[in-house]
Amino acid sequence: MRTVDLIIKKKNGGELTADEIRFLISGYVNNEIPDYQMSSLLMAICFRGLNPIEQFYLTEAMMDSGEKIDLSMISGICVDKHSTGGVGDKTTLSIAPILAACGLKLAKMSGRGLGHTGGTLDKLESIPGFRIDLSNEEFLRQIQDISLAVVGQTAKVAVADKKLYALRDVTGTIDAIGLIASSIMSKKLASGADYILLDVKVGSGAFMKDLASARILAKSMVEIGHRFGKKTVAILTNMNQPLGEAVGNSLEVIEALEMLKGRGPADFKALCYALASELLIMTDIVPSYDKAQRLIDQVIADGAALERFREMVRYQAGNPDVVFDYSLFPQTKYQIEVISEVCGYVAAVDALAIGQAAMQLGAGRKTKDDCIDSAVGIKVKAKVGCNLQRGDALAVIYTNGINDPDLIEEVQRAFTIIQEKVESEKIVIETVY
Ligand code: URA
Repeated sequence: MRTVDLIIKKKNGGELTADEIRFLISGYVNNEIPDYQMSSLLMAICFRGLNPIEQFYLTEAMMDSGEKIDLSMISGICVDKHSTGGVGDKTTLSIAPILAACGLKLAKMSGRGLGHTGGTLDKLESIPGFRIDLSNEEFLRQIQDISLAVVGQTAKVAVADKKLYALRDVTGTIDAIGLIASSIMSKKLASGADYILLDVKVGSGAFMKDLASARILAKSMVEIGHRFGKKTVAILTNMNQPLGEAVGNSLEVIEALEMLKGRGPADFKALCYALASELLIMTDIVPSYDKAQRLIDQVIADGAALERFREMVRYQAGNPDVVFDYSLFPQTKYQIEVISEVCGYVAAVDALAIGQAAMQLGAGRKTKDDCIDSAVGIKVKAKVGCNLQRGDALAVIYTNGINDPDLIEEVQRAFTIIQEKVESEKIVIETVY
């Protein structure tokens, strides 16, 4: 087999076979296929796509290129949840302890934030002392003991995806749906859970800006999951404005804790309930949404979910007192209120602009090696549909830097305010089974 022939085959719209895909992936991982040939192939895939069978074989080849987590010794039902990434998305922090309190086991390998989207690991590391680098033995023991663990994905999982993702990032080949679906699913499948819930974000702050592409991505991932015999569901959710109020690491952990105390912004709560309910139904813990909602209400009301979060922090060497004492989180020197200069209704809050402003403050990384500041961020005070008077708060900037008029203006510009009444937006758009 020659790599160049396979590049030409794909360029001409041909279908790659299982053997050909395995040859390409193992050749690339073993440095037998150079970056320039793989780049050319990736570009051909961007133009010609991958059909469902090719996506399946690519997922399998990437999953087999690294370590697979064996959860078979864990008694109980192991579930996993993945978000395609958004602004202010702290749902894992709330739904993991909720699900654990409801009787499921969540073995979660998470990533760091890059660009304008945040990462669960960076958020958790804002808790003083919190460790995300557990050994496999520690990870499995913790899941067995307290039913949840959230750790960093080791470099050994889906090795081919790691190498390919870095190449895609610099060759303009990230946004091919078949490549995204195989990339995400290779890591999810290697993580070992039998039930996979995918939160596919749609909108200005998401990878997928339009509903049609998000739908294709969701369907592709669900189909891959089914072909591997895993119960897989995707929920398309709104990322046209930041989720909840908080954008920034410790601010988001605090908001997730508030949710576990029965408080927190309505859209964030609604999404947590929707995602957790779907998993409780998928796993037959409950037969209906009504019953799922009641069970979630109960584990929040009796403190069981909050206690699971506290246990996770304790097991992962963080300070568990943060759960009740938010002053233990790193604090910023300044809080600057951004106010509305007009009255009217909020028609849009540009999630991408807010995410980028938070990144400018130091909440995210511009390059992989940047350090982040856990305390900084933005709280969005006026969400879509909100009726504003002149002088009302749009947002609060949490910063350690000097007053930056450009940044304040940027945050202000993220809000579109009009005179006509605007309805608030639905958080869950549709579900793909
Ligand atoms: N997230 C991933 O893990 N892979 C992609 O290709 C895109 C988003």
